[in-house]
Amino acid sequence: MADFRIAVIPGDGIGPEIVEEALKTLEKLGAAYGHRFSFTRLLMGGAAYDATGTCFPEETVPVCRQHDAVLLGAVGGPKWDALPGPERPEKALLKIRSGLGLYANLRPAIMHRALAASCPIKPENMGGSMDVLIVRELTGGIYFGEHGWRDGAFGPEAYDVERYSETEIRRIAHVAFKAAMSRKKVLTSVDKANVLETSRLWRRVVTEMSADYPDVSLSHMYVDNAAMQLVYRPGQFDVILTSNMFGDILSDEASMITGSLGMLPSASLSDGSFGLYEPSHGSAPDIAGKGIANPIATILSASMLLRYSLGLTEEAGALDRAVTAVLNAGLRTADIAGKGAACLSTSQMGQAIRDRIGQPRA
Ligand code: IPM
Ligand code: MG
Repeated sequence: MADFRIAVIPGDGIGPEIVEEALKTLEKLGAAYGHRFSFTRLLMGGAAYDATGTCFPEETVPVCRQHDAVLLGAVGGPKWDALPGPERPEKALLKIRSGLGLYANLRPAIMHRALAASCPIKPENMGGSMDVLIVRELTGGIYFGEHGWRDGAFGPEAYDVERYSETEIRRIAHVAFKAAMSRKKVLTSVDKANVLETSRLWRRVVTEMSADYPDVSLSHMYVDNAAMQLVYRPGQFDVILTSNMFGDILSDEASMITGSLGMLPSASLSDGSFGLYEPSHGSAPDIAGKGIANPIATILSASMLLRYSLGLTEEAGALDRAVTAVLNAGLRTADIAGKGAACLSTSQMGQAIRDRIGQPRA
């Protein structure tokens, strides 16, 4: 019997609804496999602002550090859009990522065969089945460079600086090379080296490092081409390594190819086993509180938490199989249902997944 401590940040919009399903699912797994999970709920983002006057309460980072991992829903929404940049819910997200040193963001975009009908690309154009791992640098680049407003010669101007150090590039590239080693050994590093100095440094460092990973076939791709190639032949990619900004954009694109943004989990890791797990999608304020959001991205994020932070590989596998079984059985939330098809609510989808945990392998 093992005890695991998980910090939980439900956040805003659909965050609380989808996180609830993930927590119930972890509890079901705990019961099936003899683990005890204890959850400490924390406020962050708009919910924290409303309750305490700040989106990022001081204790957030120290309390998270006392736990084995963090599970997060989503933050932000129109209610807080008028807040100045540094006070916005999204800024809290950046602060927790950098405060916890979570520089490696893993976003696996896998197309489930059962969802082929939701994929916007014609099957004959896929170039193989889509199974891409996006390795996104998460605590550097333009998100964290100097930024601000100032008086320019022709009136107000604003600036955001893209900056990367060799060390930052090296450590995220190691993560990507290692991930490629455990997969098909094909790594595409995405940059804009025809224009940006940061990208030239990025390309040089990644190229140098490839000598340490002779089994990995490395190629470089400009980000505009990568965005095009992802919809042209998504099956060509194995691991994509890229910067914070490009990774943000490409992961949304990749998720739609798998059928829905509601399917894509993510893990944000540092050097040890500690990590923060969140769906790649946002807080979807337009459907918040309606009970129709897809909880699968969050439930699969919980599966990544089991695998990467708690070392519970078998349990993670059981959860992944339960999700696949539900999809194979034709069960769908609104975002992945075909026109006119029956839809499950958020909690019904969560329950359907839990019902399949502990069932024998198909
Ligand atoms: C993501 C989100 C965040 C990001 C926002 C909400 C700050 O889009 O996790 O992809 O840009 O990193
Ligand atoms: Mg994003």
